[in-house]
Amino acid sequence: MAKNTVLTLKKKVDEGGKVTMVTSYDYTMAALVEEAGIDMILVGDSLGMTMMGYDSTIPVTMNDMVHHTRCVTRATSNTFVVGDMPFLSYEEDVATAVSNAGRLMKEGRCQAVKLEGGVEVCPQVKAMVEAGIPVVGHIGLTPQSVNAFGGFKVQGKSVEAAKKLAADALALEQAGAFAIVLECVPANLGAYITEQLTSAFTIGIGAGAGTDGQVLVVQDMLAMTAGGFKPKMVRQFAQVGEAIKQAYHDYDAAVQDGSFPAATESYKDIDPELMEEVK
Ligand code: KIV
Ligand code: NA
Repeated sequence: MAKNTVLTLKKKVDEGGKVTMVTSYDYTMAALVEEAGIDMILVGDSLGMTMMGYDSTIPVTMNDMVHHTRCVTRATSNTFVVGDMPFLSYEEDVATAVSNAGRLMKEGRCQAVKLEGGVEVCPQVKAMVEAGIPVVGHIGLTPQSVNAFGGFKVQGKSVEAAKKLAADALALEQAGAFAIVLECVPANLGAYITEQLTSAFTIGIGAGAGTDGQVLVVQDMLAMTAGGFKPKMVRQFAQVGEAIKQAYHDYDAAVQDGSFPAATESYKDIDPELMEEVK
């Protein structure tokens, strides 16, 4: 597999292909994504929930994001890695936004950054792009605004809201975003926004099949979520959580009944005569 870049990703879309993206937060899982040949990894601030156990993405810091992004990029060479900008790392002012995005690139070694929001974050997007930082936008259900939304709900259901999302997508493209994540929007709206864009491609999550690509959170797609919660938009491609739990049970049972470790799993005995001397 060749190295993915902003150009190869765009080319894939222009030739009718779909771009695939999955979240990763650590070296082990990123190495598997790299071997599987998925186009893109998102080091999402969803790590606040999936890896750190917070009940939202709000508490995630720049240091958390740099740390996890660096763990992921140690495993990747061809996969295009996008680092997520955490809550309040880019909203306040353009200069802070650019320097925080720069940290993710320099210290986290990702190839692009993602930030949530539409028209209101376009000055930040423009400044990042001018600084040579490829930017992915993110509109629709933007989890950092969960408190403002009053919960995790489908977005863009009214004419007004749908028009606002389409305008946000165009503004982000105009500001220089090379891709835009559409989260939890009706399928026909996802397709419409995708058609409206020319230079930027769309990556959907709960946005139907009409987007240029798809992204899923790894714990969702591998069924590794505690309690087994499955949002409507998720497909579980494997029951990894069950497989892991079974392995832990089997390990415990094998240790208890003495079948682990077997002779083949133990190092060769020292000479019995020498062992006598030890005693
Ligand atoms: O943080 C994340 O995982 C995301 C995806 C859901 C798009 O932003
Ligand atoms: Na995110």
